Amino acid sequence: MVRQLLLAASGSDNVRRLVQTMPLSRRVVERYVPGPATEDAIRLTARLAARGLLVTLDHLGEDTLDRSQAQAITDAYLGLLGRLAETGLASAGEVSVKLSAVGQALPGDGEKIALDHARRICEAAEAAGTTVTLDMEDHTTTDSTLAILRELRADFPSAGAVLQAYLHRTEADCRDLAYSGSRVRLCKGAYAEPESVAFTDPHQVDLSYVRCLKVLMAGDGYPMVATHDPRLIEIAGVLAVRHRRAQGSYEYQMLHGVRPDEQRRLAESGEKVRVYVPYGDEWYAYLMRRLAERPANMALFLRSLVSKR
Ligand code: FDA
Repeated sequence: MVRQLLLAASGSDNVRRLVQTMPLSRRVVERYVPGPATEDAIRLTARLAARGLLVTLDHLGEDTLDRSQAQAITDAYLGLLGRLAETGLASAGEVSVKLSAVGQALPGDGEKIALDHARRICEAAEAAGTTVTLDMEDHTTTDSTLAILRELRADFPSAGAVLQAYLHRTEADCRDLAYSGSRVRLCKGAYAEPESVAFTDPHQVDLSYVRCLKVLMAGDGYPMVATHDPRLIEIAGVLAVRHRRAQGSYEYQMLHGVRPDEQRRLAESGEKVRVYVPYGDEWYAYLMRRLAERPANMALFLRSLVSKR
């Protein structure tokens, strides 16, 4: 119930205006977002890399309905990739891109604009010596995002996909994408989806995640296990052993600010671990999805609304 409310609020302009102008304590946002500027993202990447962690950077923004804004977000990614190269951090940091931030939701030729922008980001990533992963948004965009991924992979085979275990279709998508060189991030899924397309019972989502993980781990691709769920992390480890996968032929991924001790533990045991770091001003929808995932975070959030800080 709280989750549904928060997810509905994540898409509401009225609630966004209200929350963004409230004396929202920096503490809640800072737990998940290092800051608004490219240099905030670069500094955190350097810090995490020094601890043996890999990073994927997301310039916050989504559902862009303005062409110049889509261009501005693309330019921000190009600037970020330039800085990753200049600072020698490109081997530790890649980028995650929401296609709706770079034009997918624009009326008319939005899909083509998003493809052109994503192509420019992939070129810059290749020049910097790193990779791009396309985030996955709500189910109405899945076909379009996978079509854009196919186009990109023709020129940039390392372009990564995200699949969401809560969608009924995802086990089949995993089968399609479990081929050599195919980087696939498997997550549970963070949007409010109807029962017609998604499992809504958390236990069913977990079972689907395990089925999808089995397909990816048995396949020839490069699975990216994006979850903080201790049981799923353990199952991923068992499947890796069962399929004789060496450490480094798959990786774990977690969000910045969530279970940092577990991130360190896995990295110290020799696993590849990548931290998803969002940065920028447009933190509102991202924050609401994180609060929806964990009701305990709500208490901290509500306290922050009345805090003076
Ligand atoms: P679950 O939500 O069941 O959490 C398991 C445990 O992890 C909790 O019990 C708690 O201990 C901890 N935890 C989880 N979330 C927390 C939080 N916010 N704060 C504190 N503790 C928390 N989704 C999507 O739809 N499209 C995408 O492209 C992506 N991309 C993405 C990348 C990466 C690297 C990650 C890790 C996740 C995503 N997601 C995503 C989000 C994903 O779909 C999902 O919503 C979250 O990862 C939470 O799900 P868990 O698998 O962690 O399980």
